[in-house]
Parts: sequence; structure tokens; C-alpha cells
Amino acid sequence: MTLTRALVVCLILTVVVLFGQKHGLWGVREAARPPPPTPAAIAFQRAQQEAAAREAAAREEAARLAAVAQPEETPDVLPPGEGREETFAACTACHSTAVIRRSRLSRERWDELIDWMVERQGMNPLDAEHRRLIVDYLATAFPEAPPAAGRRAVSPFLTD
Ligand code: HEC
Repeated sequence: MTLTRALVVCLILTVVVLFGQKHGLWGVREAARPPPPTPAAIAFQRAQQEAAAREAAAREEAARLAAVAQPEETPDVLPPGEGREETFAACTACHSTAVIRRSRLSRERWDELIDWMVERQGMNPLDAEHRRLIVDYLATAFPEAPPAAGRRAVSPFLTD
């Protein structure tokens, strides 16, 4: 009888002890620490960081280029007039119309300028008819300005 009781008490004690162990009642359980990363995991993480950095650099470069990009020009940036399309076609192969639009020249100077463009800048010579049309257009659209008082100096870096 006493033996049975002792066994039952033992059993109950065992159950209690095991329960306590399972739930960490007999001391603070060590927090599960993640295993150290493997070399492959380190390499993978580094590759991911590098890819992200490259992507960020590409985005930055695209933003920088977009900021300096100039909108494409069409003939209507020039004042309307006969010969506008021809002038636009002949004169925008090498530069924008900005250099033209900020110039004010007599017909004779426009004519000389085309010589200069052909002789010194490698422009294809215009046939006589085209040349007359273009010089007429330039001299009408951008005539020599009367020397006005207080005329603003024009920066060579202006683009429009
Ligand atoms: C083959 C290329 C080319 C073509 C085509 C061309 N240009 Fe030019 N033009 C240049 C270059 C290069 C310069 C800048 C030269 C420099 O500053 O040394 C220039 C400069 C100019 C300037 C500024 C001159 C100044 O110093 O103020 C004007 C105005 C101009 N061009 C008008 C025209 C006109 C008008 C046409 C069409 C009839 C034309 N260009 C066609 C190459 C060209």
C-alpha cells in the first residue's frame, strides 16, 4: 500500500518535472539563436546589395540625363513665313535653332553666314534657289535689330 502510494507520488512528480522542463519553469530557456549565415548566404546578400546599388545608380543617371535633355524641336519654333520648313531642314543638322533665333542680321550678313557655314563648318552647299529662299526667310524673320538702347547681352549658353 505504501509502495503503491510512493510510486504514484513518484509518477506525479515526474510528470510535474517534465512539464516544468518543457515550459521552461525551472530556469530561463536560452533564446533560440539563428545559425550563423553560410558563405553562400553572405555571397547572395552581397550580390543583392550590389544589384540594388547598380539599379539606384542607373536610376540616378537616367534622372540626370532627363534633366539636361532638350525637347526635340519642330519647325514651328521658328516664326512662320515662306521658307521656314526649308530653313529648319537645312540649319538644324548640326545645332538647334537657338543660335539662329538669337541672331539679328541683315540679309547680306545672313548670306555671308551661310558661306561661313559651308566653308568653315562643313555644311552642304545649298542650290541657288534654296539659298535664296532661306536667306530671304532669315532676313525677314530675324532682321537686323536697330541699335536699341540698353540691349541685353545674350549669353552664348542660352538654348532658347
Ligand atoms: C554642317 C553643320 C552646320 C550646319 C548645317 C549649319 N550650321 Fe550654323 N553653325 C555650325 C557650327 C559648328 C557653329 C558654331 C561655330 C563656332 O561657334 O565656332 C554654327 C554657328 C551658327 C550661328 C552662330 C554664329 C555666331 O557666332 O553667332 C548661327 C547664327 C548659325 N550657325 C546659323 C546657321 C544657319 C542659318 C544655318 C542654315 C542655313 C546653319 N547654321 C547650318 C554648324 C552648322
